[in-house]
Amino acid sequence: MTRIDSTPAPSTEAVTVHAASATEGSWWRDAVIYQVYPRSFADANGDGVGDLPGITAHLDHLVELGVDALWLSPFYRSPQKDAGYDVADYRDVDPLFGTLADFDALLEAAHARGVRVVVDLVPNHTSDQHAWFQAALAAGEGSPERARYLFREGRGAGGEEPPNNWQSIFGGPAWTRTTRPGGTPGQWYLHLFDSSQPDLDWSNPEVRTEFEDVLRFWLDRGVDGFRVDVAHGMVKADGLPDWDGHVAMVDGTEADGTDAVNGSGNSGPMFDQDGVHEIYRAWRRILDSYDGDRAMVAEAWVEPLSRLARYVRPDEMHQAFNFSFLVAGWDAARLRGVVESSFKANDAVGAPATWVLSNHDVVRHASRLGLAEPENRPNGLFATDPQPDAALGLRRARAASLLMLGLPGSSYVYQGEELGLPEHTSLDDAVRQDPAFFRTRGAEAGRDGCRVPMPWEAGAPAYGFSPDGAAWLPQPSSYAAHAVDVERTTPGSTFDLYRTALATRKAEHLGTGDLAWLDVFADDPHVVALRNRDVVVLANLGGAPVALPTGAEILVASGELTDDADAVAVPSDTTVWYRA
Ligand code: NOJ
Repeated sequence: MTRIDSTPAPSTEAVTVHAASATEGSWWRDAVIYQVYPRSFADANGDGVGDLPGITAHLDHLVELGVDALWLSPFYRSPQKDAGYDVADYRDVDPLFGTLADFDALLEAAHARGVRVVVDLVPNHTSDQHAWFQAALAAGEGSPERARYLFREGRGAGGEEPPNNWQSIFGGPAWTRTTRPGGTPGQWYLHLFDSSQPDLDWSNPEVRTEFEDVLRFWLDRGVDGFRVDVAHGMVKADGLPDWDGHVAMVDGTEADGTDAVNGSGNSGPMFDQDGVHEIYRAWRRILDSYDGDRAMVAEAWVEPLSRLARYVRPDEMHQAFNFSFLVAGWDAARLRGVVESSFKANDAVGAPATWVLSNHDVVRHASRLGLAEPENRPNGLFATDPQPDAALGLRRARAASLLMLGLPGSSYVYQGEELGLPEHTSLDDAVRQDPAFFRTRGAEAGRDGCRVPMPWEAGAPAYGFSPDGAAWLPQPSSYAAHAVDVERTTPGSTFDLYRTALATRKAEHLGTGDLAWLDVFADDPHVVALRNRDVVVLANLGGAPVALPTGAEILVASGELTDDADAVAVPSDTTVWYRA
């Protein structure tokens, strides 16, 4: 058993990695932000798809959990080819989810409870059903309508080859050829994602003006901010040069979080171009012109972290998702590396660090961390794939979440992770909807398994997701044990753990705290141990039990601690917060 004889006094600790914020700052600096995936949260009208009234009806769940804000994935008018990330009208609610009045009611109800609301903005591409794209197709080559998108002539004598060799992130080519009115083949248009998601041309001032107006539309309604989709992809390199790299949202290469490594694979001519920053400066000026404290968070799969920090310079975005943390797996050295690099990069520009373990695009961490190689990030899992160890995955997920919530900065929680929900790994191919499954011709399962509707009541049809049991994706039977009504009232459940952790985090001001590694574990291959204010956060990722100092006051633990003759110890795959 590893023993901590006494908690090292601050003077003997390693150099402080991050200093506490001198004063309580803006809400987004230390907020815990809960991602609602509207189609899978709660269905009020019984059509099997979650909706805005369903969210409003369940706000008290989020209040009880103790989150500060919601981020709503897209609910705008959309043909739903990519679950709403294909927007046909940025200023209206899709009837599937309700009406603008339903949105206003949700916003008001959230604000009445002290919960802020961030909405998703999808500026890299529109739906092919958007009025602009339809007009572009109708107007023909060389028209101002086409100049809002990236239409190009094909290569080869008859233009039969795509304009460059880029591949879609969902698989297959990133170009689709149009057909002229007479039936002859015409120009090609670029789509980094599905062919139903044409990329906009952000060098066109009309595109910029339009999105500035969309921002104002939602700011005027009272939203507290925006999550910006594909924030690293809106500007492409001049001339759209060929690139042999692999375009990926979730790339499989190494990423240890150090500045020496560019592990994201997203360094091609379609990503992280310097020109994106001027867009965010203009948007920041708009947000700053509004009252309140409105914020933007970038979805930017960019590494190294020093490069990502350019998105959160003082006159740009407020936050960027820290995907380096999400992909660090269950490895003490990698996690320490990412945490340290995150603070180094973000402190340099005065931005808060952010943390995230799950979202609607990746295998849920309760399953990912139960894979034989938890640093692997498959795009979904088939029933025929090696299956995660559910018990180990949940145990590690709880430990990982408690480590995350003990870090200074802002954390993102994806709906259902507060219940310890696993990935659905045995969905029938017939029910899959992710375009990535279809565009890879079934080679990748895609993201449906992390988007399965929430279980609210163990004994109800569809576990209470909808009034009569309809659900757009079937839920696995394992969800019964995770239903909200079970977990709320079960001491030690994952919901209980999150609720306690969030309350403690708030009471101890951990979100605005500081961070120093505990000297004794500074290079430990299995233990991540840090002090945040006067709370020690200690995660044992797989080594021998770690005995706590005598008299340690346990604040929260992700699992049972062992109590040997002379010491309380933290077993493997367990995190504890204590005061010594
Ligand atoms: C990132 C979103 O999170 C993902 O769900 C979507 O498919 C792509 N961007 C395209 O909008």
